[in-house]
Amino acid sequence: MPLFAPQHRIQQLRAEIEQHNHRYYVLDDPSIPDAEYDKLFRELQNLEAGHPELLTEDTPTRRVGAVPLKSFAELTHRTPMLSLNNAFSEEEVRAFDSRIRESLGVETVEYAAELKFDGLAINLIYRNGLFVQGATRGDGNIGEDVSENLRTIHSIPLRLRDHCGADLTLDVEVRGEVLMFTRDFDKLNAQQRDAGDKEFVNPRNAAAGSLRQLDSRITATRHLSFFAYGIGLCDGVTLPGQHSSQMAQLSQWGIPVAVQRCVVTGVDGLLAFYREIGEQRKTLPFAIDGVVYKVNDIGLQAQLGFVSRAPRFAIAHKFPAEEAMTTLLAIDVQVGRTGALTPVARLSPVFVGGVTVTNATLHNEDEIRRKDVRIGDTVVVRRAGDVIPEVARVVMAHRQPDASEFVMPTVCPVCGSHVAREADASAWRCTGGLYCPAQRKQALLHFAGRRAMNIDGLGDKLVEQLVDADLVRTPADLYQLGMTALGRLARMGEKSARNLLDAIENSRRTTLARFIFALGIRNVGETTAKDLARNFGSLDNLIAADTVRLQAVPDVGPVVAESMIEFFAEVHNLDVIRQLRVGGVSWDEFEPEPEQILPLSGKIFVLTGVLGTLSRQEAKEKLEVLGAKVSGSVSKKTDYVVAGIDSGSKLDKARELNISIMDENEFLFLIKGF
Ligand code: IVH
Repeated sequence: MPLFAPQHRIQQLRAEIEQHNHRYYVLDDPSIPDAEYDKLFRELQNLEAGHPELLTEDTPTRRVGAVPLKSFAELTHRTPMLSLNNAFSEEEVRAFDSRIRESLGVETVEYAAELKFDGLAINLIYRNGLFVQGATRGDGNIGEDVSENLRTIHSIPLRLRDHCGADLTLDVEVRGEVLMFTRDFDKLNAQQRDAGDKEFVNPRNAAAGSLRQLDSRITATRHLSFFAYGIGLCDGVTLPGQHSSQMAQLSQWGIPVAVQRCVVTGVDGLLAFYREIGEQRKTLPFAIDGVVYKVNDIGLQAQLGFVSRAPRFAIAHKFPAEEAMTTLLAIDVQVGRTGALTPVARLSPVFVGGVTVTNATLHNEDEIRRKDVRIGDTVVVRRAGDVIPEVARVVMAHRQPDASEFVMPTVCPVCGSHVAREADASAWRCTGGLYCPAQRKQALLHFAGRRAMNIDGLGDKLVEQLVDADLVRTPADLYQLGMTALGRLARMGEKSARNLLDAIENSRRTTLARFIFALGIRNVGETTAKDLARNFGSLDNLIAADTVRLQAVPDVGPVVAESMIEFFAEVHNLDVIRQLRVGGVSWDEFEPEPEQILPLSGKIFVLTGVLGTLSRQEAKEKLEVLGAKVSGSVSKKTDYVVAGIDSGSKLDKARELNISIMDENEFLFLIKGF
């Protein structure tokens, strides 16, 4: 056969592509960039399109899916696919080990310990080393033929090879689990969300839903994975006599086997493995719901046999259930240290993830609406590892007609200040930053900070003590403290008390910028505070400013302006400011800097498309130096749109709103002119 014969190149490409698949999907160690892989793949597709007679079962181009089926054919398993008995406690594991030792009449037993994958059981059939068919577990005897869908899973080899890369010619059934990695699940759900489609409840459901698609081209887009955990029938090779060695053998044949497995002796080894995997669980890239212990010796396995549909030689040691059903009794609102309002579900006590749970977070108002959670609903509570329990979803089938909708309070449940929601943010916040007890410690720490009022020595611990002893409620109370009050605090000697009072005294005189920053207004950092001070000259000017006046300050956009307005609209905050002034806090007030009049002051530009001679950032900077504002979107307020190459919707909008449009040359001419 000449070297350039298509069949030769096709064979070469297939072997190469499958090797890259294995490196990428099984070893997680790709050796070429994705673009190079795509090139090889396209070359193979083109060659096959020109030579349909050369198509084979194991060609990787079949991984993209095939013509949709009308229904799945039934497939009878040649040996039944069994299930496992479960153990939920250490005692049950000890009882399992005792039973086995007794049955075998031995002192200690060697076990293979491995992960219990939370996916769906699959049987892969290889004939003559070639993947020919695959089926779901079904009822254990008859499953569904999902061969085309399995073919789209890149980590499943379409042909078995030995570790030297030579083709194998054996007949074997590989048993394992199809699952979806957490990152692929998150991506899929984000896509579903964007497309307005229903999201999947968990990775297992997503894997099952993806594998049971009649159109395997859809499965091909879903990024499923596979791990083997056993061998069914096998012909053409003598298998090793230990389960652990059989797994190693599968791995050598190119079949994915999870690395988290080990051989242990006795029950203590099993329990150590359980604890170790329990620790690793949160960092694993896929979901597991326990571990599985199997007598390692295949001969002993046969001796132990089966009870009904489960082997006596194996057991699943499950992690505590992470989801449970209960009734949602009420929804309360908690206020966090930063003023964020979090709705919390009060629940009928339920045992989940190893503890009894009575409260679970509902995150925010949007989440409540998205999940359509109502008071009185039966809900599923999820608690994974150490994370805060959450209400995962509602069991709609149990909804009662009197289930009532939750209404977000309009004032802070802790201090009564009004609540506000930032544009584009999902959280409501209490605006009484200086006054709200929930935010007290945080507000005081910020107020006393080095770059704010600079009260030396007033740190975490002291704030904690002052607030807990109810000596200080708002920053204004700091200026009323005296030796007698401080003397009541534990571990507060006379000298420390004196130092603290001196530091407070020294902070009375400050600058306007520091005072503005010290107020802890959301989104107002040190630099913004300085800009505001320079531009307004006095606190009263700042308090009186409306959003337009505020946004005239460089770098103050709508979000900062809104935070300022919300803050000063809250009378509780104004009260604290008044008390601070009465308490002797003062700063220099001055004539504000006159607004600099630059050639393009007050003009709003929008840049769109690609500019040939300078980057967008450079164009933006040039405009800003000349006093213009550069906005990201076209509105009625826009004065000019600079349209480069490939300008899209912004240009259309500008035309629609009749806004002046300039091309790159006109723009360069404009900025050169100044
Ligand atoms: S062995 C003869 N090993 O759990 C024993 N099963 O409840 C057959 N599973 O349907 C199963 N991880 O889908 C085995 N390491 C593992 C497993 C595992 C997950 C699933 C499997 C089976 C179910 C049994």
